[in-house]
Amino acid sequence: LRPRDLAGRRVVVTAGGTREPLDPVRFIGNRSSGRQGVAIAEAAAARGASVLLIAAHLEVPAPSGVELREVGTALELRDAVLEAAAGADAVVMAAAVADYRPEHVAETKIKKETQGDELALRLVRNPDILAEVSAAPRDGRTIVGFAAETEPDDDRLLELGRAKAARKGADYLVLNRVGWSEGFATEGNSVVIVSRGGDIVTRASGSKREVADAILDLVV
Ligand code: C5P
Repeated sequence: LRPRDLAGRRVVVTAGGTREPLDPVRFIGNRSSGRQGVAIAEAAAARGASVLLIAAHLEVPAPSGVELREVGTALELRDAVLEAAAGADAVVMAAAVADYRPEHVAETKIKKETQGDELALRLVRNPDILAEVSAAPRDGRTIVGFAAETEPDDDRLLELGRAKAARKGADYLVLNRVGWSEGFATEGNSVVIVSRGGDIVTRASGSKREVADAILDLVV
């Protein structure tokens, strides 16, 4: 049994995948199931933390014993994170956030009858929430980000992770490979955790709960 080494601490976790609406019935989304973020929230609560889970479209049930705030889009997730970060000892950003959103959201269904054979979507960049919370005054707060990459080569994957860690400014970046059959929606995970300076601080693999505890060990 793990010690209650997060007792008295406030931990904010994001999980799931944002959805960016195109019209009232359609969206652009991603395959994140929310399993890893939910496992982190669950593990933090088991270790005594007061946990806020900011959830975007979870495919798994939210754990009991944590406060839940549901959001839909990247902009909603941003508002929730910025509001919650102020009172947090740690922020763990496991959610897959859309990098782009449709510039215009149609008021009514986009119809093929009026669009014809082609439909062009214009997307605009979403703000980078992880970079934003990392750049804000920290007051000793620990910030953990994720980097899901499809790069097949291990060395290249690590290079991407190191560059991203430096760019985002989070204390730790959890690097994992995702793809058609890896990462998202799976039961297990295998990660390399790098520091802001690019050092490998931990490698962890096993169940998402085991990976969650390895991440929380660093936070502690
Ligand atoms: O740049 P990339 O999307 O790979 O970064 C992944 C990390 O950054 C995750 O922790 C994710 O939650 C966060 N992120 C964010 N805002 C975005 C995109 C990603 O906070 N717009």
